[in-house]
Amino acid sequence: MAGRIPQYFIDDLLARINITDVVESRVKLRKSGKNYAGLCPFHNEKSPSFTVNPEKQFYYCFGCGAGGNALGFLMEYENTSFPEAIEELARMAGVDIPKEETSSKQIERDHQMKQQLSLLDQASQYFQHQLQASHLKRKAEQYLNKRGLTPNTVARFLIGYAPPGWDNLIKHFSSLSDAPQQLEKAGVVVFNEDKRKYYDRFRDRIIFPIRDMRGRVIGFGGRVLGDEKPKYLNSPETDTFHKGRELYGLYEARQHNRQLERLLIVEGYMDVVGLAQNGIHWAVATLGTATSEQHILRLFKLVPEVIFCFDGDQAGRNAAQRALNVTLPLMEDGKSVRFLFLPEGEDPDSLVKKEGQPAFEQRIVSATPLSSYFFESLAGDKPLDSMDARAQLASEALPLLRSMKPCLLQQMMLERVSELTGLSKEQLQSLEGLQQIHPPAPSAEASTPINNYTLSADYEEYPELLTEQPPDHLYDEIHSTASSTTNRGRASRTISLVNRIIAILIHRPELARQIDDPETLGQLQEPNIDLLIELLNYFRQHPENSLGTLNVDWNQDAQHQAYRVMIAEISHVEPIPSSANALTELRDALQRLSSRQNDSQLDRLLKKQKLSPLTTEEKKQLQTLLLSGR
Ligand code: CTP
Ligand code: MN
Repeated sequence: MAGRIPQYFIDDLLARINITDVVESRVKLRKSGKNYAGLCPFHNEKSPSFTVNPEKQFYYCFGCGAGGNALGFLMEYENTSFPEAIEELARMAGVDIPKEETSSKQIERDHQMKQQLSLLDQASQYFQHQLQASHLKRKAEQYLNKRGLTPNTVARFLIGYAPPGWDNLIKHFSSLSDAPQQLEKAGVVVFNEDKRKYYDRFRDRIIFPIRDMRGRVIGFGGRVLGDEKPKYLNSPETDTFHKGRELYGLYEARQHNRQLERLLIVEGYMDVVGLAQNGIHWAVATLGTATSEQHILRLFKLVPEVIFCFDGDQAGRNAAQRALNVTLPLMEDGKSVRFLFLPEGEDPDSLVKKEGQPAFEQRIVSATPLSSYFFESLAGDKPLDSMDARAQLASEALPLLRSMKPCLLQQMMLERVSELTGLSKEQLQSLEGLQQIHPPAPSAEASTPINNYTLSADYEEYPELLTEQPPDHLYDEIHSTASSTTNRGRASRTISLVNRIIAILIHRPELARQIDDPETLGQLQEPNIDLLIELLNYFRQHPENSLGTLNVDWNQDAQHQAYRVMIAEISHVEPIPSSANALTELRDALQRLSSRQNDSQLDRLLKKQKLSPLTTEEKKQLQTLLLSGR
């Protein structure tokens, strides 16, 4: 987007548009009283729980909780960005979009990006077309046939073919000025320094386009048709393609089912495609890299369950160990991870072809839970009959457990270590360095499903959220002296109460009305208090709204955009409140917040009293504080 779209224009546009028109051209609706009803496009259902309310210009699904205005609907339904949805609405209304000024650098970057994506899209179409071109058709098609792929699967994954030759693609773009340079930036052309020449990166290879979450082609993988080396060639890192973040097949899986419950992580392109060919449409592959933290965080935003699939050989076991280490610190209540080991010599593609979908799915069902794999990999087959063996187990397990966030799984695994070693939990906890293992917060028991799509949209736009540690501003200092002594002088930090309240509210907006006097919050001096107040006002004024609508509504000025980023960050580190405890937890946090505030107020007044006389007002305050027992 070049330039920000002014708020007045968006308000005006939404006033002109009727949400019913927007939805009706995409979802079959029938009138039902004042509203319209239909089958929800965001989850699978047989009886309609999706409603459109023309009066409020709002849609809501009683089945899956999706809801928002016309803009939000378009973004979610069409999988588009905010500006793209505005463009679509403006087209419908027949108006032009005025743009506010942005820095020329930003305009230039946006332009570059758009151009690169367009080139990649055209390149992908070119490769697909080559699969149809008569003189090349046979060889490539035979290969795909041999691999058991039907035209349907080939089309769904946009699979193509790069013909033999050094400059087919360059020639294809010959009408474009500085095509070779542009194509090189996009990763599909290589520059040879010695010969000072550009040439096509992909030659005589089957092409697997890699798409981002929105379905835009951002890179390619190419496989030889025979036994030549290297077997696979991938696009390099470019402005649009980041291997450590992207997952092959994720877009296709989400296209196939918007309400995914689990995702399978496999190694290769052909595994994803072969599984889909055999009815398993929820596999994704890392792109020739090990599974990263960013991959897992991205998947956890989408599904509660992730299953890693590994070859049964030593390399597979090593990869599993790495995956375990990466995953442990990311585990939280409500998420589950399992490990599937295949028989030696097989990969998912070969195995599903051999034994079929039901048998393969059976393997997935009986895959090893993370905790079992954890203890298997530590203890192996070794008997724990000596003190040494048990001490060894404890010393290997404890640092790994310490890397975890406080959650039930961590507690249960700690209990298991205790069982296996015969050491009590207290003994284990008192071991060097183990002070970090805290019991889980009372909130972190059962958890309700997160409103995934709204958060994942943030994710897309703010890759900087994918950081290892929560940013500093998510913490504030803990006041209790007890915990600072147990932490041996390390700066002791705890998740902020304000952030905790925000986290509860974004999952349970209706609780905003349970807060008695939000005005008093304004007097608190806490990080993010302004965000909390804004959030409260929003949900109190629009009790029917959700985080989804908020994300749409808060897109306009820089302040609200910053708030959205903050909310996404908070949701990223805070456990999901359990539905049973959310209100209690909210009240508790508010109470603690106000007593903490009282403490510092008291502190301030007492200190001041030593230096100068207090005003009448201050004296009264001091008295109240002292009488309140704080
Ligand atoms: N890979 C790669 N470069 C190679 C070999 C492999 O980037 N030279 C990556 C690719 O992403 C590939 C994955 O590693 O999909 C798995 O490789 P491999 O097991 O060798 O291939 P398969 O997926 O089994 O592919 P195929 O079935 O086509 O032989
Ligand atoms: Mn294979």
